Amino acid sequence: MELEINDKIVKTALVGIVAVDQDGNIISINESAISILSNEPLSADELIGRSYLDVFLKGNKFTHTGQYTSALIETLETGEPCLQKELSYRNKTLLVDSSPLIDDKRKVVGAISIFRDITDKRILEERLRQAEKFAAIGQLSAGLAHELLNPLTVIKGFLQLYEKGDMQGTESWRILLDEVNKVSRLVNDFLLLTNPSAPKYQSISLQDLLVDVANEFASVAEHKQIQVHLDIETNFPDIMADLHQIRQVMVNLLMNAFDCLSPGGEIRIRSIRDNETIILSVFNNGPVIPNDIRPRIFDPFFTTKDHGQGLGLAISYRIVENHRGHMFVESLEGKGTTFTIQLPIR
Ligand SMILES: Nc1ncnc2c1ncn2[C@@H]1O[C@H](COP(=O)(O)OP(=O)(O)O)[C@@H](O)[C@H]1O
Ligand SMILES: [Mg+2]
Repeated sequence: MELEINDKIVKTALVGIVAVDQDGNIISINESAISILSNEPLSADELIGRSYLDVFLKGNKFTHTGQYTSALIETLETGEPCLQKELSYRNKTLLVDSSPLIDDKRKVVGAISIFRDITDKRILEERLRQAEKFAAIGQLSAGLAHELLNPLTVIKGFLQLYEKGDMQGTESWRILLDEVNKVSRLVNDFLLLTNPSAPKYQSISLQDLLVDVANEFASVAEHKQIQVHLDIETNFPDIMADLHQIRQVMVNLLMNAFDCLSPGGEIRIRSIRDNETIILSVFNNGPVIPNDIRPRIFDPFFTTKDHGQGLGLAISYRIVENHRGHMFVESLEGKGTTFTIQLPIR
């Protein structure tokens, strides 16, 4: 068999290159491959002709989870290439490509594998992820601090007036109480966002829940002259979900829908089943969400409202994610805005 591999390129390449014959015996191996695969000072010459499996994998073809330990061996046995496969090898992470070696008569005569040690890259990526996480926490805390300072400033101002004796009356107590409530709601929402409790799954009737939530908004709807339509498929199955959490998502979406509608506006709540998934949507025909703010609406503390807190969508997104579901928005000129949630039935 004539192997058309340019010896020099193989020898000096920075990537590991190994080729084996049909029986898994090494026919070519470069220095990079040896230094990646072994801690011992082996030479290519002494490895040629020996079994790749025995030398580097102590004869173990499979991991304890039943996967091939080596892309090279997998290719050799299946005749199929393995591309961009990430494998653990000792304490390293290797990125491997392997493909069958084919001779002039298109017969498979072995396999070749090219790999890189990406351990350092993975460690760096992990560090970066950690750093990003801390940056996100910092950003979140800054958002929370900012939101807390407003009501606290009002409270402090009032208390100072009381101290001086300049302040009396029930009206001011009401304002104080409102501000204190704001603080505690914020802290609660924040905790919900950062430490959402795992969903307490129970079998719930989505129909009951939607009717219940719609009823809760009935007087607001009447007051604001907004039509709310409920559109639920008949024979809708019960689903496994956390009643309070899903209820909260619906309340958040409905509040947002009400916020952006003027009298005469329309809200449509729909739920349909698609195999093992239910699709819940809240539509309103208010002004569309501008393209430049769309990517940010699920960010904590992002709000375009004077008195908004920007936590409703962030919390909802988190809840849906924890239910192994998805949430997305569509907002098109002339077609209104629809928030859609997909949830697994169980
Ligand atoms: N139905 C909707 N129509 C238009 N914009 C919306 C809608 N729902 C949410 N948004 C936008 O997303 C932002 C974030 O919403 P949310 O997280 O609920 O916070 P908040 O309601 O306190 O502003 C809103 O300020 C608004 O700009
Ligand atoms: Mg909201």
